[in-house]
Amino acid sequence: MIERAVDILRHSRNCAILTGAGISAESNVPTFRGKEGLWGKFKPEELATMEAFVANPKIVWEWYNWRRELMRSVQPNAGHYALWDMEKTFDHFTLMTQNVDGLHRQAWLSRNENVSDTVLDNLLELHGNINANKCIDCGTPCDLDNDIDPKNIPKCAKCGGKIRPDVVWFGEMLDPDVIDRAFVESEQAEVFLVVGTSALVHPAASLPVSAKRYGAAVIEINLEETPLSEFADVTLRGKSGSILPELVSQLNGYNA
Ligand code: OAD
Ligand code: ZN
Repeated sequence: MIERAVDILRHSRNCAILTGAGISAESNVPTFRGKEGLWGKFKPEELATMEAFVANPKIVWEWYNWRRELMRSVQPNAGHYALWDMEKTFDHFTLMTQNVDGLHRQAWLSRNENVSDTVLDNLLELHGNINANKCIDCGTPCDLDNDIDPKNIPKCAKCGGKIRPDVVWFGEMLDPDVIDRAFVESEQAEVFLVVGTSALVHPAASLPVSAKRYGAAVIEINLEETPLSEFADVTLRGKSGSILPELVSQLNGYNA
């Protein structure tokens, strides 16, 4: 199966990728679903909705502070690095992630230490970034270096609204510019890699479907079967931290 995936990748010039929590699992970031998943222990409607924030902003901030703390201690893994290693194989490459952990960005920055991160325009963080903040009322971004004190939540400098994490919560729209571009990139891709996502949350899970409708070959990498598995051209079962470096190594073998 891996040979088939390498063959498809080798013959494609335009590659789009969608990642989910599974790619960060080997960095010890908890996934959402499954036995050990966050949504097995916590209720999303009490922590990841605007209603929850309005009703109890303290609890929501405590939860996000805990996740920020956890994410400060983690590093990208071999899967994150392998994706950037693939970039040079293609004429056009777009990495779209549902993850808010910033590990794709961190992996890129550690490879490109002298380059400003503003050039990283082929990374689309569909669900936002856990380290960013914005106003609940006017949406103005709020740069704060300090942790948020849940008992004294900072206010927006522009309108006085409460500051919230700049991530997409249940029931919220994704940033229209970001999701529109994600669909355009998906439709233009010749190969679409889906890595470590349960493919249950839309619109992200619609991206590979759209890509396939427009002619892309879909390659799925996941420990388990998902709703996409049957529809993918190739499914590779296993850990992304092992399979992705193997793909890169075989691709480089061809290019050598
Ligand atoms: P999930 O937790 O739903 O799914 C994680 C997927 O990764 C599962 O299909 C696992 O089988 C797979 N997996 C786990 N470890 C893996 C590994 N080492 N290698 C390969 N695959 C592995 O996470 P997402 O699909 O990312 O939304 O969830 C989507 C969205 O739901 C999240 O972005 C979040 C959540 O609610 C928001 O916060 C808006
Ligand atoms: Zn405001």
